[in-house]
Amino acid sequence: MLLNLFAFLLLASATAVQSLDQTFNDDVLGLIVFKAGLQDPNAKLQSWTEDDNDPCNWVGVKCDPTTNRVSQLVLDGFSLSGHVGRSLLRLQFLQTLSLSNNNFTGPINPDLTHLGGLQVIDLSGNSLSGSIPDDFFAQCGSLKSVSFARNNLTGQIPDSLSKCSTLVDINFSSNQISGRLPSGIWFLRSLQTLDLSNNLLEGEIPQGIGYLYNLRGISLAKNRFSGRVPGDVGSCSQLKWLDLSENYFSESLPESMRWLGSCSSISFRGNSFTGVVPDWIGELTSLESLDLSGNKFSGWIPFSIGNLQRLRDLNLSKNQFSGGLPESMMNCSSLLTVDVSQNLLAGNVPSWMFGMGLKSASLSGKKLTGSTVTSSVDSMVASYQGLQVLDLSSNALSGGIPSSIGVLSSLVYLNMSRNRLFGSIPASVGELKSTEDIDLSYNLLSGSIPLGIGGAVSLKELRLQGNFLSGKIPTQIVNCSSLTSLILSQNNLTGPIPAVIANLSNLQYVDLSLNELTGSLPKELTNLSHLLFFNVSYNHLHGELPLGGFFNTIPASSVSGNPALCGSVVKRSCPSVHPKPIVLNPNSSGSIGNSSSDHHRKIVLSISALIAIAAAALIAIGVVAITVLNIHVRSSMSRAAAALTLSGGEDFSCSPTNDPNYGKLVMFSGDADFVAGAQALLNKESEIGRGGFGVVYQASLQDGRSVAIKKLTVSGMIKSQEEFEREVKRLGKIRHHNLVALEGYYWTPSLHLLICEFVPGGSLYNHLHDGPGQNSLSWRQRFNVILGMAKGLAHLHRMNIIHYNLKSTNVLIDGSGEPKVADFGLARLLPTLDRCILSSKIQSALGYMAPEFACKTVKITEKCDVYGFGVLVLEVVTGRKPVEYMEDDVVVLCDMVRGALEDGRMEECVDGRLMGNFPAEEAIPVIKLGLICASQVPSNRPDMEEVVNILELVQCSPDSQEELE
Ligand SMILES: *[C@@H]1O[C@H](CO)[C@@H](O)[C@H](O)[C@H]1NC(C)=O
Ligand SMILES: *[C@@H]1O[C@H](CO)[C@@H](O)[C@H](O)[C@H]1NC(C)=O
Ligand SMILES: *[C@@H]1O[C@H](CO)[C@@H](O)[C@H](O)[C@H]1NC(C)=O
Ligand SMILES: *[C@@H]1O[C@H](CO)[C@@H](O)[C@H](O)[C@H]1NC(C)=O
Repeated sequence: MLLNLFAFLLLASATAVQSLDQTFNDDVLGLIVFKAGLQDPNAKLQSWTEDDNDPCNWVGVKCDPTTNRVSQLVLDGFSLSGHVGRSLLRLQFLQTLSLSNNNFTGPINPDLTHLGGLQVIDLSGNSLSGSIPDDFFAQCGSLKSVSFARNNLTGQIPDSLSKCSTLVDINFSSNQISGRLPSGIWFLRSLQTLDLSNNLLEGEIPQGIGYLYNLRGISLAKNRFSGRVPGDVGSCSQLKWLDLSENYFSESLPESMRWLGSCSSISFRGNSFTGVVPDWIGELTSLESLDLSGNKFSGWIPFSIGNLQRLRDLNLSKNQFSGGLPESMMNCSSLLTVDVSQNLLAGNVPSWMFGMGLKSASLSGKKLTGSTVTSSVDSMVASYQGLQVLDLSSNALSGGIPSSIGVLSSLVYLNMSRNRLFGSIPASVGELKSTEDIDLSYNLLSGSIPLGIGGAVSLKELRLQGNFLSGKIPTQIVNCSSLTSLILSQNNLTGPIPAVIANLSNLQYVDLSLNELTGSLPKELTNLSHLLFFNVSYNHLHGELPLGGFFNTIPASSVSGNPALCGSVVKRSCPSVHPKPIVLNPNSSGSIGNSSSDHHRKIVLSISALIAIAAAALIAIGVVAITVLNIHVRSSMSRAAAALTLSGGEDFSCSPTNDPNYGKLVMFSGDADFVAGAQALLNKESEIGRGGFGVVYQASLQDGRSVAIKKLTVSGMIKSQEEFEREVKRLGKIRHHNLVALEGYYWTPSLHLLICEFVPGGSLYNHLHDGPGQNSLSWRQRFNVILGMAKGLAHLHRMNIIHYNLKSTNVLIDGSGEPKVADFGLARLLPTLDRCILSSKIQSALGYMAPEFACKTVKITEKCDVYGFGVLVLEVVTGRKPVEYMEDDVVVLCDMVRGALEDGRMEECVDGRLMGNFPAEEAIPVIKLGLICASQVPSNRPDMEEVVNILELVQCSPDSQEELE
């Protein structure tokens, strides 16, 4: 119905429309067509349906009861988008059109004012563009109020505006309207409010504003107006607010302003006004807010200001006022905020200021010389408890901070920085429960930071730098749990950095530099996840720099000047980081394998193996040349320790676990006695691979077995030792014919090794893509690889482990052609399964990664391995890489095979190197299975268990299987 109607309207002329079905009046037509052109994401206009031919009940619509025609359309904040179309012109009785705070785009419809009855147009808060149509106001009927505020309008204010003499309220604020103010604007004798703020208007204000006897408010703020304020402004005797802030107005205040006796708010902030503030300012007795800040006013603040009994907010900051604050201000009994900062004022902090119930007093940057704050402020604070802001910074105040400061229970902001305050910080600061910022920096304060500081529980910023504070940083600071900035630099603080600081989880800026702090940096500090700046330079700290979190990227300048600190950042090796050769239970030497049935058997480590590992750690921190160490170690130790026997309970641990200086080697089974020594682990020759998680080396054990040693290069991101060990032990329990076994691990804070079963025959990738044609795998071998991978993965999933990183380089083929899946579950060693980190770590897995990986809201399940498996199946069958880059093309394997399936050419996909030597009744189902496994939607993919069953069913002749044996 709607579409028919819409189509009809598009085709038919206006007269034809009128002859349409009698039940549709123009209002229904207009509204339905208006709705048809809109997007209404929240279905706000659901009630608008042409089946209901009485629009008066529709949401946002009101009718005039006498005519029963639509008189008001108010759709504010409905999230509608689209154009304000011509269809609305059908609403011939419309008086109010309010579409504010939506997403309407396009230009302003020039014909809207043809609706003769329209009184109110509010299109504010949309994305309308273009200029205000030239003739918009030419025949404006009875228009009283127009608001185009907060759109994207450009161009000039049309001259036709001055013809619309019915206008009462005009609001064009917050657009990009440029040009000058048309002088005809002052002909709008009914005008009460004019808001042109926040545009690009320029030039001088034309004379004539004085004709607007009804004007209540005018804002020209945030434009580029210049010149004088019109001399006749004082004739607008009803004016209540006048905002000319942030323009380029200059010269002095026009004297006629003295007649603005009704005016309650004047803002001339941010212009270039000069001259003095005249005495007649005291005649503006209705003033509640006077903002003359950021100009070039000079001279004394007039005494008459004391007549402004209603004045609540006075801002005279950033001028060149001199002299003192007039005592008459004491009479401004309504005053709540005073800002006279950044002037040339001098004299004492006026005592009367503190008796009048101010909420905010900013007196910074004056030359206030107040003898002692103690004497002048102390007595007053008692009567002064409503104060929220006290800024006395950058004066020449001396004396102590009043001990009763704590009674200012409403104080949010306290700034007394850059004065000459001395004495100690009163303990009562701990009673400032509402205070968010305390800045007492750059004074002469001494003594220690009061323990009570922890009572200031709202504190976000504490700045005490540049004083003579001594003593320790109180641990009670931990109670200020909102603290984001802690700046204590340039004092004389001693003692350690309390570890509890690590509990202040919001901390962003910490500066403790240039003190006398001792001790080491607590490791817990790495937990501070929001840290942006942490400067402890020039103290007497020692020991190891924490590793992890912010400390992985801390600039050297933030820790310099502490000669006893060590770590790679300060380019000093930490003696303590060197994992010492592992010696455990030396008394039981020689007793090897006395309980071989135990899963966690004792193991024997040759010293050289341990040295190798230790050396690897050194390499990791890039300090010592390995050869030097080897020579040294060999000469001094090789004879001394042929083999150290290690015994223990389960999870044999090679070191006293609570000594962080020891490395820890754990083997889950078998012996670990590395034959080749240091070089075996470290030489480039023994490197056998590199992956997203690290470099892999090959090493031999004394019992003849080979192991692969994987050096994790994601150290900075590894979880804590406990979590790492828990995870690795979990992985170590996984034993399956088609999975590469994890044999053990080695841990120091800076080096993590995984010791794995060594699989000779190379990776599946090598077999498929590296070898020359004749060596390629037979179909039977390929099928076996697919089935073996499936079994391995099915086992992993049974153990609730997701591989996360399946790809052909991670599938190894053993001597008998059996596949073994490697590298499973490593992603779990990272602190969080952050997909960004993950996908950058395994970006080499391009083409294997399930689509849901990119989608943060979808949970990653085993099904993401099934996807990778599906791709692997296709890779094995076709012998092609998951993504191949051709000269001017990218071939995605799945898409290619899927296309072949659709075209019925599936057999053509099978690797040409097989020369047609494959059973189609096996190959086709396998390809289809691969495609199903690589479905876009996780729930469409089978479980690995099912995959194994399917493959076993598909496998056709047992004879052909025997080929393999
Ligand atoms: C306007 O549209 C944008 C995107 O089209 C949307 O993000 C925004 O929330 C919408 N605004 C309103 C007020 O509906
Ligand atoms: C509004 O104009 C600004 C600047 O011209 C532009 O960046 C912005 O995208 C526009 N907004 C819309 C909704 O058209
Ligand atoms: C003009 O419109 C803006 C945005 O809707 C509003 O914030 C402002 O108060 C209006 N001005 C007047 C004088 O009503
Ligand atoms: C810091 O404290 C030491 C010992 O208390 C003192 O000798 C030294 O003068 C103090 N330094 C400053 C700048 O106050």
